Amino acid sequence: MEPILSVEDLSVSFARYDRGLSRRSLSALRGLSLAVEPGQVLAVVGESGAGKSLLAHAILHILPRNAQASGTIRYGGASLTRERAEVLRGREVALIPQGVTFLDPMMKVGSQIRRGENSPDARARCRQVLERYGLGPETEELYPFQLSGGMARRVLIACAVMESPRLIIADEPTPGLDAKAAGRVLGHFRELAEQGAGVLFITHDLTLALSVADRITVLYDGQTADTVSPSQFRAGTGLTHPYTRALRQAMPENDFL
Ligand SMILES: Nc1ncnc2c1ncn2[C@@H]1O[C@H](COP(=O)(O)OP(=O)(O)O)[C@@H](O)[C@H]1O
Ligand SMILES: [Mg+2]
Repeated sequence: MEPILSVEDLSVSFARYDRGLSRRSLSALRGLSLAVEPGQVLAVVGESGAGKSLLAHAILHILPRNAQASGTIRYGGASLTRERAEVLRGREVALIPQGVTFLDPMMKVGSQIRRGENSPDARARCRQVLERYGLGPETEELYPFQLSGGMARRVLIACAVMESPRLIIADEPTPGLDAKAAGRVLGHFRELAEQGAGVLFITHDLTLALSVADRITVLYDGQTADTVSPSQFRAGTGLTHPYTRALRQAMPENDFL
């Protein structure tokens, strides 16, 4: 099947000015490739600093100004240019950002989820999506500073899935959520995938990734270590990189070897 998203040979580096005059380039992602097919949840697993958020931001052309990216990103078979990404973002392509600072502090939650739309249909969908994440209709009238961390996280997810996206990029969506709320989020991703969406699920939680993903890409030090299915990972077959093998060995069911 034609992937909905493909990333080929993506590299991201930062210009760094050392003391004195020398300018060094610091590479954060190197030659990364992956593909998400419609109907699939691809988990990208890596420890903090591995480059997971950079990957999400590179796809959507929202990297910091001092970053330099190269490589090919295609969405729906065509190059995902900055112009296209701007049009698609928040509509067909939804980002669930890692930081809750992505919420607009000056706008009430309800308006943010509806993106200012006020039709009865938009209002009903907004209520539905909030309810789905265990938030009552009164949440719509709150400003972001009035939300707890876990509520803010759920609001970000509600914002992202409101428009039935074809591609969801979720950057560590579950920290701060209890097991029940996290389960609800992952269940919803699965459901969106079953309706034909592609899901890029970024997480440092290997157990969570194994429980929900069709395939897992292990990111290590800015590079793809391995891409395998959860059953391959569990069985330890097809793992080529020492980091992936060590990760598997360290799982509780493998006695933390
Ligand atoms: N704005 C920046 N300037 C310089 N280096 C950065 C910047 N943002 C990220 N990096 C570097 O890129 C690496 C990967 O960052 P990130 O993608 O946020 O990791 P994570 O996997 O935790 O999401 C970090 O270790 C950091 O060194
Ligand atoms: Mg991150």
